[in-house]
Amino acid sequence: MERTFVMVKPDGVQRGLIGEIIKRFEQKGLKIVGLKMLQITPELASKHYGEHQGKPFFEGLVKYITSSPVVAMVLEGKDCISLVRGMMGATDPKKAAPGTIREAFGIDIGRNVIHGSDSPESAAREISLFFNEEEICKYDLSLAAWIYE
Ligand code: RTP
Ligand code: MG
Repeated sequence: MERTFVMVKPDGVQRGLIGEIIKRFEQKGLKIVGLKMLQITPELASKHYGEHQGKPFFEGLVKYITSSPVVAMVLEGKDCISLVRGMMGATDPKKAAPGTIREAFGIDIGRNVIHGSDSPESAAREISLFFNEEEICKYDLSLAAWIYE
């Protein structure tokens, strides 16, 4: 099964949306295999968002993502990278499709509540940035036969 890295951003934590966001993934049928709260350092932020270094919004992005704790998680499920991106909605909440997390909970592009890996390469890189192998739980989801055919 595929794995992805997901994070409730500082605005999501401050606004009391941790449970609401995790609930959506649980109810979808995705398996949570890693979960923790942490405050991102500027060093970790620069690594995580390295692809955006030099862009006009980079400094503000690092300031935002380091401003308050985040909740980081690893989710597992069939095609979960694109599945989670779909559930998140477009980067700019104003353009996010109805029913998506960013559409439901966000207004500004720089306060879009959630992060999710955008490719298998990003997922592998981001999971290893935030989690040690021992922090990822291996277990069977007893409901799997009721989620997958
Ligand atoms: P993320 O990495 O946070 O999940 O978001 P994303 O893939 O949907 O978007 P990405 O292009 O990776 O951008 C990372 C974050 O930078 C902020 N951003 N601001 N002002 C702008 O034009 C702009 N573009 C991107 C957003 O907060 C976005 O989530
Ligand atoms: Mg991105």
